[in-house]
Amino acid sequence: MGLHQLIYMSKLATEDSVLNSIHSHAVRNNTARTMTGMLLFAQGRFLQVLEGERKDVQHTFEKIKEDRRHDHVTLIADRPIVERSFSHWNMGFKALSENEAKANAELMAFFSQPLEESELDSDTAIHLLLAYA
Ligand SMILES: Cc1cc2nc3c(=O)[nH]c(=O)nc-3n(C[C@H](O)[C@H](O)[C@H](O)COP(=O)(O)O)c2cc1C
Repeated sequence: MGLHQLIYMSKLATEDSVLNSIHSHAVRNNTARTMTGMLLFAQGRFLQVLEGERKDVQHTFEKIKEDRRHDHVTLIADRPIVERSFSHWNMGFKALSENEAKANAELMAFFSQPLEESELDSDTAIHLLLAYA
């Protein structure tokens, strides 16, 4: 029963108007499972970190992967951790406007990488997620 962290990036496959309902549903489910994390939306993409008991993280990620509101779900990290980096939020959420995204060169570089078969750096992902948490 160890603590686990999973990070992925994906592409929005529907309208932006679904973002708030995804977030409120995530908060409700994650609170029930004592999962924490952060969901960042920018440039039509999601970057999410999930933290909690390994079985809860994996169960939630199985559901997330099947969700048709996004696609190109690309795993960045799936690993045991000693302590949580996002302990204050059952699921923090930030949707960046075009201008907010463009003001962050590191984010723009990270979010414009191709998702297929690419090696996305987990340290940069955590750094960006913490910046908006
Ligand atoms: C980008 C994205 C992030 C999501 N994050 C979560 C999450 O953190 N926790 C969660 O339970 N569901 C999350 N969901 C929703 C799941 O895909 C799924 O719809 C939901 O878990 C189903 O919950 P239910 O079994 O209570 O109906 C996310 C969906 C998307 C598209």
